[in-house]
Amino acid sequence: MLKRLTLIAVPAALLVLSALMVAPSLTPRQDADLANVAGDRARGAYLLKLGGCAACHTAEGAAPFAGGVALKTQFGTFFGPNITPDETAGIGGWSREDFANAMLNGKGQHGESLYPVFPYTSYQHLSLQDVADMWSALQEVTPSATPSKPHEINPFFLNRRYMAIWQILFFSPGSALAERPAKSDAWLRGQYIVNGPGHCGECHTPRNGFGARDEKRHLAGSVLPPDNEKVPAISTAALMQNGWTKEDLIWALQIGLLPDGDVMGGSMGEVIDGSLSQLTDEDIGAIATYLLNE
Ligand code: HEC
Ligand code: HEC
Repeated sequence: MLKRLTLIAVPAALLVLSALMVAPSLTPRQDADLANVAGDRARGAYLLKLGGCAACHTAEGAAPFAGGVALKTQFGTFFGPNITPDETAGIGGWSREDFANAMLNGKGQHGESLYPVFPYTSYQHLSLQDVADMWSALQEVTPSATPSKPHEINPFFLNRRYMAIWQILFFSPGSALAERPAKSDAWLRGQYIVNGPGHCGECHTPRNGFGARDEKRHLAGSVLPPDNEKVPAISTAALMQNGWTKEDLIWALQIGLLPDGDVMGGSMGEVIDGSLSQLTDEDIGAIATYLLNE
């Protein structure tokens, strides 16, 4: 019996080990070459709001983008890193291409696979222009020499090679948003915001046991660990069924008021305060147009 087990266990262990060795070189990538793209700071500052970066990278009362925000998940607590231009505590030693590679391919400065708590599975859809603009805006942030904290997660997951395997299985950078050429500019802009910088699906789309989004149930609602916060469905079908009009939706996204007079709280309250309430009417209108599929 023991012999038979060894016969299975040894090859299995060898297989896992060799997968761990080659995984980092096999992870998919998209072109993150910004050589011909000039960044615009003002557009970038707006895009950092659109991307809701401060929610995870600016701790309450702390310096902007200096990190330290605790993000609790079922795998442990992650801390948003310091992304100010400080040489040691932040990303001051990064090149613009390193930054693009993090946003679009989920890779750190040394090619290591980043944890998808950082929603690069959505940011992968950012245009190169938007990435360059964000980078320019981050260069203007006051450098903070205060380092963020190390992640406090299950030691198993501290090995980033496992994340490389996760990326092979669940991440396809550069996958185009489903094209819908017959749609209006507003609809297409909404599609880009919701699935790209706005990363709405990170909370509104349910996940499988490996923490990857189940795109077959796009925006179908979810529960957020560790406190099981309920996230409603915002698919077109669900919004229609619940009687949402475009005006209601715009109102809700801009000031957080639901049609029945309730105020949206929890993590959606933070999304509205930190991001949606600061967007242009045009962008909020585009989000509503896309969600209602008008
Ligand atoms: C939901 C939380 C969350 C949001 C929103 C978020 N990030 Fe992050 N980000 C993280 C976490 C957590 C990490 C660390 C990932 C890791 O260690 O693998 C990270 C890592 C990064 C890194 C790599 C830094 C490093 O030191 O490795 C960059 C660059 C970055 N984020 C930029 C951004 C920008 C720009 C935005 C907005 C467009 C943004 N992030 C939005 C949570 C977030
Ligand atoms: C960090 C998680 C998170 C993100 C990101 C997020 N949401 Fe939400 N959203 C929630 C939660 C939680 C609720 C429930 C809030 C409540 O009822 O108090 C909610 C509620 C809503 C509702 C109300 C739906 C209803 O029927 O009551 C709409 C509309 C909505 N979100 C749209 C969006 C859009 C658009 C985005 C992207 C720009 C987005 N959300 C991003 C967590 C999130």
